[in-house]
Amino acid sequence: MLPAVNLRPEFNITRSSHVRLTVADLAVSRRFYTEVLGLVVTEEDGNTCYLRGLQEACHHSLVLERDPDGGTCKRIGFRVFFEEDLDVAYRYFRDRGLPAEWVEAPHQGRTLHASDPAGTLLEFCATMETRPRMHIQFEAFKGAHAQRLDHYQILAPDTYALCEFYSALGFRNSEYLTHGDTLLGAFMYRKGTCLDLAIVTGAGPRLHHFAYTVSESRDIFTACDFAGNLGYGDSVERGPGRHGPGGMLFVYLRDPDGHRVEVFNSHYQTIDIEIEPVRWDASSLSTNARWGLPALEKWYLEASPFVGVNPVPPAEPQNPMTLERFLLDKPAD
Ligand SMILES: [Fe+2]
Repeated sequence: MLPAVNLRPEFNITRSSHVRLTVADLAVSRRFYTEVLGLVVTEEDGNTCYLRGLQEACHHSLVLERDPDGGTCKRIGFRVFFEEDLDVAYRYFRDRGLPAEWVEAPHQGRTLHASDPAGTLLEFCATMETRPRMHIQFEAFKGAHAQRLDHYQILAPDTYALCEFYSALGFRNSEYLTHGDTLLGAFMYRKGTCLDLAIVTGAGPRLHHFAYTVSESRDIFTACDFAGNLGYGDSVERGPGRHGPGGMLFVYLRDPDGHRVEVFNSHYQTIDIEIEPVRWDASSLSTNARWGLPALEKWYLEASPFVGVNPVPPAEPQNPMTLERFLLDKPAD
């Protein structure tokens, strides 16, 4: 069912590390991420704002770039361990006919832009400037005081094909989602917890969400409370709830440009070699959430496009159990 994983990949991706988004109004987005999630501004100018979570020592995990249209994702970033990994990665992508080019990126070391076979825009670096961690600077805590970027979820028309590509790069599945023999969701990791990159079937590539951890489950509610107080109550799109896959508590919010960000509490450890992926059946309602109601249709269908990349629909149209369908199907008491 799952592609074979290369446990000795040609280059060493260590973790998901930073995401670059376009936003229409930098001040409005800055306020959302500092006051609701509680991220710290590392550096900013009139066009770009670099933010990080409170326990992050590296310069940025979220880069907001001003663009009149906003609402697009420029890149999802991964770290590699050694400088040499970047050179191997460059050749790896080029040898497969995939885009790869060196770019200058402020506040980080040598940087490689590349695309996976679905067209997802990727960015790799081995180093970044560092700053002091802020996790015990309690006077700086705001909102949910989110701690660190953890993972991305992308939508892609062929989950298996993309899972195969990332499996060859050493990504392992913690859990996966199937309908019959069809792979609909691959929850993949490099850093030894449940996720660095989730791939789910849908028109793509598009960025479905990126996720920050919080220290305690009550911080998930704090994110909602601050969103409500600051006029972003409608941005609380799904949850709070508890996931099936991964089993963590979560809430999803939409930022002022419609980018979806998840705040969640913790992941279990997956580093040991004998750990087998957990399979979930997409037709079971409890797969998407352990309790509560299904997600709204827009949670399944809406996502941030990558700049200049046209999404491709999946071969089979998706028919998830949305809240709208659930309520229509529900027999009257
Ligand atoms: Fe997530």
